[in-house]
Amino acid sequence: MFYDPRTGQHGLKRNPYKSVIVPRPIGWISSMSKGGVRNIGPYSFFNAVAERPHMVMFSSSYRPESELRKDSHWNAEETGEFVVNIVTEDLKDKMNVSSAPYAHEVDEFERAGLTPAPCNNVKAPRIKEARVALECKYFQTVRLPSQPPDHGNVMVIGEVVGIHIDDAILTDGMVDMNKFRPLARLGYWQYTVVDNAFWMEPPE
Ligand SMILES: Cc1cc2nc3c(=O)[nH]c(=O)nc-3n(C[C@H](O)[C@H](O)[C@H](O)COP(=O)(O)O)c2cc1C
Repeated sequence: MFYDPRTGQHGLKRNPYKSVIVPRPIGWISSMSKGGVRNIGPYSFFNAVAERPHMVMFSSSYRPESELRKDSHWNAEETGEFVVNIVTEDLKDKMNVSSAPYAHEVDEFERAGLTPAPCNNVKAPRIKEARVALECKYFQTVRLPSQPPDHGNVMVIGEVVGIHIDDAILTDGMVDMNKFRPLARLGYWQYTVVDNAFWMEPPE
């Protein structure tokens, strides 16, 4: 089959777009508002985008006409900081709770039953229960085209300035996928867990 996504005419039961770009890592963004309210939100339009320096991005939807932004996007721009926590299989239900549209004034650590832990190089809190957390300094927001016009998306880009890794997920000095078991997004409401890996070196 072939379809032009601009027409929306895929002819299938459900839109296949997010099912063919898989698995997508989930950036579980923790941040703090200027007024000190702690926030958490999961974003599967998330990835590392450069290594030197370490740069990451998450993409957040917003309402262009009212400039209504999600809290993670809002706090990153307002405070210049955010933290990317990595969701593992054991934290999937708490991640799901944290995706509800709570008001800006709600402490989402309390709502999701998670513990805030201090960071070293940013004031935003990380999630203590997360095996991995990346402290980030906000770099730039890129506005993506709005289509339909009342639905916008931005890419929020940050530089990683601190990395926490739980020693328990290491084997012989390397991150062990069997111990780490990060959660990833598939299409529809499907998820997967990364629990196997194979080694292949590039040609000389
Ligand atoms: C697994 C998962 C992935 C999500 N990915 C995104 C995403 O990439 N972009 C987005 O705008 N919303 C995404 N959402 C929805 C947000 O998590 C949701 O709108 C949440 O309320 C945002 O939190 P915040 O306002 O505290 O930042 C996702 C939800 C789930 C459960």
